[in-house]
Amino acid sequence: MGKNKLSRFAENLTFDHVVQPTFTELMQGGFLFKGKWNARLFKREAPLVLELGCGGGEYTVGLARLNPHRNYLGVDIKGARIWRGARTAKEEGLTNVGFLRTHVDHLLHCFGPREADEIWLTFSDPQIGKARKRLTSPLFLARYKEILKPGGIIHLKTDSPLLYEYTLEQIAEHKLPVHEQSANVYADLVQRVSPTEQAVLNIRTYYEQMWLAEGRTIHYVRFGIH
Ligand SMILES: C[S@@+](CC[C@H](N)C(=O)[O-])C[C@H]1O[C@@H](n2cnc3c(N)ncnc32)[C@H](O)[C@@H]1O
Repeated sequence: MGKNKLSRFAENLTFDHVVQPTFTELMQGGFLFKGKWNARLFKREAPLVLELGCGGGEYTVGLARLNPHRNYLGVDIKGARIWRGARTAKEEGLTNVGFLRTHVDHLLHCFGPREADEIWLTFSDPQIGKARKRLTSPLFLARYKEILKPGGIIHLKTDSPLLYEYTLEQIAEHKLPVHEQSANVYADLVQRVSPTEQAVLNIRTYYEQMWLAEGRTIHYVRFGIH
């Protein structure tokens, strides 16, 4: 393992805003943060927004800058990636940012019923040929329904036409309300939304910057769960 990675893992251990539960801790049902993220991590009540597969946490940190009155938690399995967002949040003194290092399959062990308000899925792996593993599969939608408040919102931003179309199909099949959708975020959507929404859509993740440099088109859909 690279020295860089090891030093990032070591620094993560010093961060109060990075939570790294063990498998046993999660499976035994005694995970202290479950149902208590606002109280234990953020030390205040506020809407809780999750970014799943957050990587370096560009959305988590970017949204936290824009909305100081909301709490943002990035979730990813890779500690060295989470470190990037955690370090930036610390350097900027953002107290409404946290990170959880875990596998997304453990969501129900990490969050209580109706604990979260919104979920962001940013450039998630399209899982070609493995529809069950997609973060908008029926399995994941059922999990989101458990952990989101009634009226909770899911955002998908992706370069993958496959994941975008698949998500629209799932939305239709589950009769979920679509609040916004666009097959081309920068040529279409940002041109017709408010400046506040533009600022949100203009946050660019690490992967998004790579895909934009390759000339790929970015898709977005925001939908509700009930
Ligand atoms: C394509 S990257 C996108 C990262 C970031 N959202 C971005 O746009 O730059 C997908 C991310 O999902 C994470 N990931 C993949 N499978 C995961 C899993 N089962 N549980 C948690 N994170 C996972 C990876 O570690 C990676 O950071």
